[in-house]
Amino acid sequence: MSIWPEQFPLFPDRATAIARDIDAIYFFGLGVATVFSLLIAGLIVFFAVRYRRTSPDEVGQREQAPAWLELVWSIIPLGILLFMFAWGAQVFFDARRAPADAVEYYVTGKQWMWKFQHPSGNREINELHVPVGVPIKLIMTSEDVIHSFWVPEFRVKMDVLPGRYTDLWFEVDKVGVYRLFCNEYCGVEHSLMGGRVIAMEPADYEEWLGSGQPQTTLTKSGEQLFEEKTCNTCHLGRSFALGPSLNDIFGTEVTFADGSTAIVDENYLRESILDPRARLVQGYQALMPTFQGQVDEEELVLLIDYIKSLSEGTGASSTGN
Ligand code: CUA
Repeated sequence: MSIWPEQFPLFPDRATAIARDIDAIYFFGLGVATVFSLLIAGLIVFFAVRYRRTSPDEVGQREQAPAWLELVWSIIPLGILLFMFAWGAQVFFDARRAPADAVEYYVTGKQWMWKFQHPSGNREINELHVPVGVPIKLIMTSEDVIHSFWVPEFRVKMDVLPGRYTDLWFEVDKVGVYRLFCNEYCGVEHSLMGGRVIAMEPADYEEWLGSGQPQTTLTKSGEQLFEEKTCNTCHLGRSFALGPSLNDIFGTEVTFADGSTAIVDENYLRESILDPRARLVQGYQALMPTFQGQVDEEELVLLIDYIKSLSEGTGASSTGN
């Protein structure tokens, strides 16, 4: 019988391709470290015995290793380390860069819960239903302090910060229920700030979505909010409008009054809504009021999702971190 409770296995299951890649690197690194540790420790013992002082007046003499031996013990470890570096970098990039066709979900952390918004408009707390075999990108922020989103079976983890967006992606390949943890100490109930990711067959997922209360999609809700907050009065997309057109801007480069530039991503849109004067687009006046305190994190996401939808088809998607 295992001493480890079933829910907390010594080594978590692997439910994504990235999890297998990361474990392969982990075990390769562990193997290399074990081989070299045993080799070095073994040689120390062997040399200590083989070359020990055998008479009290014996004096050691200097030995010079032949050049070929120096080369062998330099080049072989160098090759192994460079191989591990290249392999690790490759897997790191795969794990960090979401595929272009990833479906975007929004996550808001707060003391002490996780809130999820599906593209379909469905919302959940502490439970996230996802289809298997589909790359899922989470765009995450926090309402208060730093949290961290972690699912051990997926081998991915990302800090969730107040005031900005970070992202994380995964593609689950096994139907199942996976524990979700907050991995950054965030207050007295940090240890209770968890939940479950429920990975389902795509057909079951569609059925689950349908069984929720009637929903409008994120983009639709965003469009309504855009009108409610009268954003559309200035961002008309016409030449005489007071604010720049928002059509096809996502993923493009904008130039500011001071001549500097930036790529329009979620973090830039967020800043422009909450602090419009921070970086003013060239040719426009500082007329826009701040929406700080007037839209909460979940509403911000709706507005950003709607503005992104105005650029659909350009294939642009970036959280810029
Ligand atoms: Cu949230 Cu720890």
